[in-house]
Amino acid sequence: MPHLSIRDLDLNGKRVFIRVDFNVPLQKNEKGDMEITSDKRIKASLPTIQYALDHGAGVILASHLGRPKGKPNPEMSLKPVAARLQELLGRPVVMAPDCVGPEVEALKPAPGGVLLLENLRYHPEEEKNDSEFAKKLAALCDVYVNDAFGSAHRAHASTEGMVHFVSTAAAGLLMDDELKYLGMAVNNPARPCVAILGGAKVSDKIEVIQNLGKVVDRLLIGGAMAYTFLKAQGKPTGNSLVEADKVELAGRLLAELGGKLMLPVDHVVVSEIAAGAANEVVETIPEGKIGVDIGPQTIAAYAQVIAAAKTVIWNGPMGIFEKPPFDKGTVALAKAVANSGAVSVVGGGDSEKAIKAAGVTGKITHVSTGGGASLEFLAGIQLPGVAALNR
Ligand code: 3PG
Repeated sequence: MPHLSIRDLDLNGKRVFIRVDFNVPLQKNEKGDMEITSDKRIKASLPTIQYALDHGAGVILASHLGRPKGKPNPEMSLKPVAARLQELLGRPVVMAPDCVGPEVEALKPAPGGVLLLENLRYHPEEEKNDSEFAKKLAALCDVYVNDAFGSAHRAHASTEGMVHFVSTAAAGLLMDDELKYLGMAVNNPARPCVAILGGAKVSDKIEVIQNLGKVVDRLLIGGAMAYTFLKAQGKPTGNSLVEADKVELAGRLLAELGGKLMLPVDHVVVSEIAAGAANEVVETIPEGKIGVDIGPQTIAAYAQVIAAAKTVIWNGPMGIFEKPPFDKGTVALAKAVANSGAVSVVGGGDSEKAIKAAGVTGKITHVSTGGGASLEFLAGIQLPGVAALNR
């Protein structure tokens, strides 16, 4: 990728604006305060922040949190993030009352200082990619660094617009890593290259299937979207989730991708989806039954393909994995990926939870911090936040 990296820059004495993705999950505690339930995204940004500080910069951090629809909402304040970041960095983090304006300008940090701006999306101009707003953000800094891979699919003022108004723009260490691993998987994978795609809907992953279909040697399909493909083959799907309006498209994808695409050959089925519901393994889904996971023969067949792979790309679970025992297929494949020795790149969200549940997080080469962004990347769509850096 022809963009600059933070490693290419002289940061000494500079004020560095780092666009991070601190869009962390929050929940209200008994006292009514918002609490962070996963600090993964904060931790993922630490190397870049620490790098900038170690190289003599004063750091301004900016992020969105949630979707406050262009106005302040105390439940989506970045204050809990400032507190957690302060603990993780072991140095003070000043929380700004806003992200632009005279009060914020007065807080611009000296070298070694860290200022966290308040939620960018409290201003509607952020999502509108308003150029006056982007200029105000750009005026806060000497150097712009984008480390927010998870937001790179958004053309917003802080991810795209402000790049037009800074003299130097570069990728942070996390952004660099994300682009390196996802880019390698999609553009130049060691072969055989295998993609595992799951989740509920074919409609969410059409572009990903089409794009990866051109790249990979095998595409293993699981999750409810497999039933739409089975329907297209004329196989019985009982009461399983089928996207009726996507059956024709699934048929076309099957024809286009030929033998590359593998579908489940057996299924775990239930009469109703409930924890602990009686279940059985079938090769043909009977009338009235609902498929909730891939069966043992499918696990064995998929695991064999994965064992021979040199690159594995994974996005989406194989069944209703959040309701054990319907997590067996997903967990078994997570283990197969971890033990394969292949370069493994896992898209965010549910696949990441599955990797955690299988206890193999440390054995995965790269777990992306981006849900939507990693899907768009795998679909071959140019991310505006990345395109801006390249320019
Ligand atoms: C994410 O969590 O996927 C990113 O932070 C982007 O958030 P958004 O979907 O609200 O733009």
